[in-house]
Amino acid sequence: MSNKNEVTVPVNTPSRAYDVHVGRGILDSIGKITRASAGGSRACVITETNVRPLYGARVESSLAAAGYEVSTLTFPAGEQNKRLSTLEGLLEGLAEAALTRDDVVIALGGGVTGDMAGLAAAMYLRGIQVVQAPTSLLAMVDSSVGGKVAVDLAHGKNLCGFFWQPSAVVADVECLHTISPELYTDSIGEVVKHAVLADPQMLADLTDHPMNGAGYPDELVTRIVAKNIQIKRDVVNADEKERGLRQTLNLGHTIGHGIEAASDFALGHGSCVAAGLCCMARAACAKGWCKPGTRDAIVAAMAAQGLPTDTALAHDVIFDYMTHDKKRHGDSMNIVVPDEIGRVSVRKVTLAELRELVDLGCGCAAGNEPIPEGEAR
Ligand code: GLY
Repeated sequence: MSNKNEVTVPVNTPSRAYDVHVGRGILDSIGKITRASAGGSRACVITETNVRPLYGARVESSLAAAGYEVSTLTFPAGEQNKRLSTLEGLLEGLAEAALTRDDVVIALGGGVTGDMAGLAAAMYLRGIQVVQAPTSLLAMVDSSVGGKVAVDLAHGKNLCGFFWQPSAVVADVECLHTISPELYTDSIGEVVKHAVLADPQMLADLTDHPMNGAGYPDELVTRIVAKNIQIKRDVVNADEKERGLRQTLNLGHTIGHGIEAASDFALGHGSCVAAGLCCMARAACAKGWCKPGTRDAIVAAMAAQGLPTDTALAHDVIFDYMTHDKKRHGDSMNIVVPDEIGRVSVRKVTLAELRELVDLGCGCAAGNEPIPEGEAR
């Protein structure tokens, strides 16, 4: 911890070592942090239409004060714009701004911006440096750390991308003051997921003191964000390219992605992870893979945040989308199962077994009764 308001989490992956800076008001230090971590003479801020008016000028002046020649590229906000066509415009913009291999991209925004600006940096001149400046809780605790960058294809989310680690991450928790309560609550799904993965005490604390309730000063949010980053850091340090351990970060995501796609993306990602994790916990409990206390602790923690703990969507539709997931290997899929709070395991299941898990876990929060196949809810 370098001062009362800032925590620094070092990340050390095989391809790059970098620091994640978390704290209140640290966006004003982004120039200094970029200078120290990435160097270069030009910095191009990539941001979107909602975030630029809020934080663009602050970031630009901090970079200018650190000696950078600064340009900014802005794309229309929204996941629907995380596409190759937008990326092409950004790459042309980097060329127009004459960035060289020594220069740096600043990804200023939520998960969509981090993914797309990170991919632009990974591709431009076969790769230049990027500093991630996440402004949403989801981006702070998850997507800005670990180097996954991507755009969506018509066939699914994040199907086109790379692993491209940033040179630094600057997470200013004051930015969370300007995101909507709905988006903030949605993001807590990933925070609870990290607690289930690795931190029983954090899960208990979140259940007793929901993060979307009162009493969360910036200092406490800083500590929680930093703790989440440490949990993710420990995983990506050990397995940068998701060959093994990193799969555990997909806890809640297999059924969650099915729910997200089946809702036509009307439900937020974190809410779908919350529902997907609760459904998987119920199914795992029904199979005897975890104890009822584990299932109940997960459901209670999600419910306490005001997050969904189940889905009323049709099993056929959820399952159909699940089988198009990029985690599928032929006729089997690796799923992540909570063994107990703080310990999960990866299990390889056939598609028939996966379908059974959907029936055991989804649409049955009250009695955990299997639902007849094909019945729409
Ligand atoms: N969000 C999961 C990962 O970064 O691996």
